[in-house]
Amino acid sequence: MIPALAGVLATPVFAQDKPAYLDPTLPVEQRIDDLLQRMTLEEKVAMVHASGEFRAGSVPRLGVPFLWTADGPQGVREETKLDSWDLAGRTDDYVTAMPVGMNLAASWNPELAVACGKAIGEEACARGKNVMLGPSLNIMRTPLCGRTYDYFGEDPWLTSRMTVGYVKGMQAEQTVACLKHFALNNQEYNRGTVNVEVDERALREIYLPGFEAGVKEGGALAVMGAYNKFRGQHCCHNEYLLNQVLKKEWGFQGAVISDWGGTHDTREAALYGLDLQMGGRAPHDECFLGRPFREGILKGEFPMSVLDDKVRRNLRVLFASGGMDGRLPGSVNTPAHLAISRQVAAEGIVLLKNSTGLLPVDLSRYKSIAVIGENAVLKFAPGHNSAGIKSFKEVTALDGILARVGGAANVQFSKGFRHPEIHWSGKRDHAGVRTSDSNAATPEEAKALTERAIRAARESDLVIFIGGLTHQSFADDEGVDRRDLSLPANQDDLIARLAEANPHIVVVLISGSPVLMPWLEKAPAVLQSWYGGSEAGNALASVLFGDVNPSGKLPCTYPKSLGDEPAHQGGKRTYPGENGTVHYDEGLLVGYRWFDAKNVEPLFPFGFGLSYTTFTYGNLKVIGDGSSTAAVECEVTNSGAREGAEVVQVYVQPKLPSVLRPVKELKGFAKINLKPGETTKIRVPLNGRSFAYYAPEKKGWVAEAGEFGILVGASSRDIRLSGSYTLVGTTLVQ
Ligand code: BGC
Repeated sequence: MIPALAGVLATPVFAQDKPAYLDPTLPVEQRIDDLLQRMTLEEKVAMVHASGEFRAGSVPRLGVPFLWTADGPQGVREETKLDSWDLAGRTDDYVTAMPVGMNLAASWNPELAVACGKAIGEEACARGKNVMLGPSLNIMRTPLCGRTYDYFGEDPWLTSRMTVGYVKGMQAEQTVACLKHFALNNQEYNRGTVNVEVDERALREIYLPGFEAGVKEGGALAVMGAYNKFRGQHCCHNEYLLNQVLKKEWGFQGAVISDWGGTHDTREAALYGLDLQMGGRAPHDECFLGRPFREGILKGEFPMSVLDDKVRRNLRVLFASGGMDGRLPGSVNTPAHLAISRQVAAEGIVLLKNSTGLLPVDLSRYKSIAVIGENAVLKFAPGHNSAGIKSFKEVTALDGILARVGGAANVQFSKGFRHPEIHWSGKRDHAGVRTSDSNAATPEEAKALTERAIRAARESDLVIFIGGLTHQSFADDEGVDRRDLSLPANQDDLIARLAEANPHIVVVLISGSPVLMPWLEKAPAVLQSWYGGSEAGNALASVLFGDVNPSGKLPCTYPKSLGDEPAHQGGKRTYPGENGTVHYDEGLLVGYRWFDAKNVEPLFPFGFGLSYTTFTYGNLKVIGDGSSTAAVECEVTNSGAREGAEVVQVYVQPKLPSVLRPVKELKGFAKINLKPGETTKIRVPLNGRSFAYYAPEKKGWVAEAGEFGILVGASSRDIRLSGSYTLVGTTLVQ
């Protein structure tokens, strides 16, 4: 080639008139480089803060569109006005409501998490949202946490599996998932200010694995900082959590988004890992990452590289969600989405008790049914603030039962009790009220409601009581914790009296967190249902009447009393905090890890859930050569008369650890469906992390040589097979 022409010919002709960042055939990083060097300082700064309640960015001159975010995580939230929380009053924003996080976790079915994430991703595309603010995956440290319903329970492994599935499903649909709230947002009480002190091992082994898996395995491209502080510094600009752990150690390439109003300082936000400040009001340029940040750069207080890095990360999110090249059309309220919602709802329902075989309800035996309890007629999807959904449809429990029973029995409904209104702004009205005491009925009304319900119970062959919580203040509500674990509005008393009036009683609890059950002895059948989304009532009816065999397992321990809980051993110091700080003195011993270590009998253990059939376990084999790559195999047989699914749980138990370890920890599980008499072999892989603990002094995970028990069971307290595995050497593992 003639040397003088080489440079000219090497440049494709179109590149002269089309900037590289607009060329979808080029690698994304190259496009971002090109775009970045075209932006002015003002344009870059506009990319790192909100430009509306749920909107960020744009650079009109370069054709860079807004980045739209939306809550999350159970579906795409109702539209608000551009610059406020006021509802926009539109009619094109009805969506499918997916069941809440606890419901999804209770299904123990990561494939459903994929399906759920995918469906929400499709709905987000149709609604024009680039980023969904979910999944929510904080660990349930105390069942009082008002947002427990939104999360995946108390165990890091189960949380990780749900998170990875949800993220992968969602991001396959050009919608970026935002893991929240990073990290340690384990209580709502004083969530904006409370400082969390937790030791490094508990941080790494309990509170971070879900996020770590979401980033490393799920590939999540956004993470939301939490409101609270960690070791004295706000989580939305926490040097250690964001710069050191998330970005440096885990290699996170995406954007850290602040929780709404969770940013408090320009310098920290500039330097300690925040990429996008959200929340706040117009003029948005006045926010911490607006004018003050720009001026700081001009004065040389912050290097341009920190701004470039933030813009680059936000652009990755924009590009990944199709923001620059056109997005998938998506779809809302499709039959397929409703079917997924229904399957999640049904698979997450947990059969807690069935001592007389009352369930499934045999409609040839019961000709009159009293459905009692206000939860039977309430809709829950709209009621949980940021996770609230304007659902296209939500089938109530009563409607689901009526539709299923048809003319096969006479169904009468009696309200029985009345919850306080679900109202965000009414929250403070209840200050000081115990959850159990909250009651919308006056004593006279309550008496009349009770009497009518007892009459209905006496007149009927079967009672289906449907109670629980409602997202009302101090009961499964964002921003405030529960005050106690008891059911509100006289329900405990009412259930006991109904059971006396008619022993054929099924108690259905609809809630997002554990409750106490002082009436348990008297109730022959108990189901834990959750806020089950669009198809909740149909899903519940399918379990009640045996079309679906329950296969849900508890994603958290149900205690006999709050005093048994690990976070409630140290007075205010350990919950809700003293002098602005809460100390996680229980360390690693969260949930069943505590109940195991201290030999405390739970009401229902982690992983518990019955079926209408029975399963037997056999032929355990632990396969491996002494290295940390191993596998557990066993056979499971459906030994009953109905088809059903079982969740086979694998716990690993260090026998002689040199450091404190929990008695056993969940490290794998498999959900399998079996016909009556059918046997299948399951295989659960184990790896270095299955055996390892975090060693702060080594800044790494250590799988220590020695013997480990391998416990396979139907719950954390129902171990059916035990074997062992010996690691031959001590290794540092990934
Ligand atoms: C919640 C977040 C939510 C955000 C935006 C905050 O109050 O903690 O989970 O995504 O509001 O609605």
